[in-house]
Amino acid sequence: MRIDIISIFPYMFTSPLSYGLLKRARETGVVNISVHDLRGFTHDKHRTVDDYPFGGGPGMVMKPGPIFEATDALRRPESQVVLLSPQGRLFTQTVAQEMVSREHLIVLCGRYEGVDERVALQVADEELSIGDYVLSGGEVAALALMEAVVRLLPGALGSSLSLQEDSLSGAGWGGGGLLEYPQYTRPAEFRGLDVPGVLLSGDHAQVRRWRREQALERTYRRRPELLESAPLTPDDRQFLKKLEGAVTLPAREE
Ligand code: ADE
Repeated sequence: MRIDIISIFPYMFTSPLSYGLLKRARETGVVNISVHDLRGFTHDKHRTVDDYPFGGGPGMVMKPGPIFEATDALRRPESQVVLLSPQGRLFTQTVAQEMVSREHLIVLCGRYEGVDERVALQVADEELSIGDYVLSGGEVAALALMEAVVRLLPGALGSSLSLQEDSLSGAGWGGGGLLEYPQYTRPAEFRGLDVPGVLLSGDHAQVRRWRREQALERTYRRRPELLESAPLTPDDRQFLKKLEGAVTLPAREE
């Protein structure tokens, strides 16, 4: 996969791309990531990328010209152009999985109060938001998106076992899974807090059952809406029935 990022703060990406998964995936050729300075696609002395909004109002709007030029220079027939903004469709694990099959992503990071709407209409194939909160720009969102997509590329993780584990245990996202069960490591006792005895028992069947029930209970308490699309066994449903009698959930915000 090739990823081209277009931003007015290209140096925001230097450190995050130099550690961990993204660094390794770049070094091993799993992904090729380039960051482009939007100001490189301006032609005036001040390298202007924004202007006042037509119709008045506070703040500045990113001009269409430099963004159109930058994407024209980078786009190929197979490219998918993604605009990051709080107005976009919600980026979820399911969307990340859809993007894995793309050969080339062009990621546009918005800034200021917004981006000229002609970018969303004419340049972007997809407008995506990473959540219902407002960041001051798309850069942090672009990093979240890239990390979620790149770790799904073949060869990005040491072994595909970790990915399988994600879906078996349902490492929590909402793409049909449950939240993950709690994990513990040594020491078995720490500051008076004991690791649950079943994990030390060596009884693998009991451990599996305990983990499944913990995942179900967590999901039920924290993200009950995920249970509507999670694949559940008859045993799971029976366990949840028992929970429903025992646990009162706080009222849900809509
Ligand atoms: N830019 C500002 N806020 C954003 C968000 N929540 N998601 C994606 N891009 C953004």
